[in-house]
Amino acid sequence: MKKIKKIGVMTSGGDSPGMNAAIRAVVRACAYYDVKCVGYYRGYEGMIDNDYIELSPRSVKNIINKGGTLLKSARSDRFRTEEGREQAYQNLKENGVDAMVLIGGDGTFTGGTVFSRAYDMPVVGIPGTIDNDICGTQFTIGYDTALNTVVDAIDKIRDTASSHNRLFFIEVMGRDAGFIALNSGVGAGAEEILVPEEDQHLEKLIESLKRSKRSGKTSSIVVVAEGDKTGKNVFELADYAKEHLPGYNPRVTVLGHLQRGGSPSCLDRVLASRLGVKAVEYLLDGQRDIMVGLINDEIIATPIDNIMKGEHEINKELLRISDILSI
Ligand code: F6P
Repeated sequence: MKKIKKIGVMTSGGDSPGMNAAIRAVVRACAYYDVKCVGYYRGYEGMIDNDYIELSPRSVKNIINKGGTLLKSARSDRFRTEEGREQAYQNLKENGVDAMVLIGGDGTFTGGTVFSRAYDMPVVGIPGTIDNDICGTQFTIGYDTALNTVVDAIDKIRDTASSHNRLFFIEVMGRDAGFIALNSGVGAGAEEILVPEEDQHLEKLIESLKRSKRSGKTSSIVVVAEGDKTGKNVFELADYAKEHLPGYNPRVTVLGHLQRGGSPSCLDRVLASRLGVKAVEYLLDGQRDIMVGLINDEIIATPIDNIMKGEHEINKELLRISDILSI
């Protein structure tokens, strides 16, 4: 097996708070083990364009607390093509890069799997996405910060909702997964939570909101995952509610990209630091094509292939808890 002397690192897909802490951990672990480190800008795009920077422990000073990613991020269509991947490999080879650390979500790992299968380039993935939709880890980097951001936003919306006796529909991110909606909804005491993983009927939603009103509630918060499967978007849901719930004057808030920004929580910084160091250690240990993740407070490695096949499921028990608590 070839001795690893230089490791490349990049961030790809939607950015998430804590990606900088992960880059810092990779760079410093490399220095600790006397391995060179280079960072590629804009994920796979930078690998194709040979856009990189040499990284030393001092290049990553004062970034552990910063949101976004120093290396910038992108979703790359060119890397989906064979020519793009070939160009990226040639660049890595010329730069003497022996292995890559890929920080991102499932799109990033899909690209990484195809790449490492075709070329002699070991890769290790670090899960970085606010969506938390990656199996092989209980938490992805950025998820905890996003949850806190969402809960803070819902708390603020509740102030105005209760002042005006209003019903609010709040759309949160998560792509096809309901982790953010479910956990922020429970954390912020939402009356209703709509997630893609559960078939929730509109009649049931209206019935439940009516029940809330009868029980003396004057305002309500409905958290809607962007990927929910009611067949209506958040604005259509509000229109539907207006039609079927006389006396309520629904409003809509789409939280959008503010959920991706901000200084990472302590939990995300620690997670990123642990995963970053372990990613380098696994590579130096001869492991390849794995993702590092946190399960029961232990860092474990899962073959990237399994990550792509598996699914990280939401805890449906929380929906039951939410029903009980929103009585
Ligand atoms: O994967 C992270 C995420 O923020 C999803 O929650 C969301 O669906 C998507 O990215 C938005 O992507 P973009 O920033 O490209 O619009």
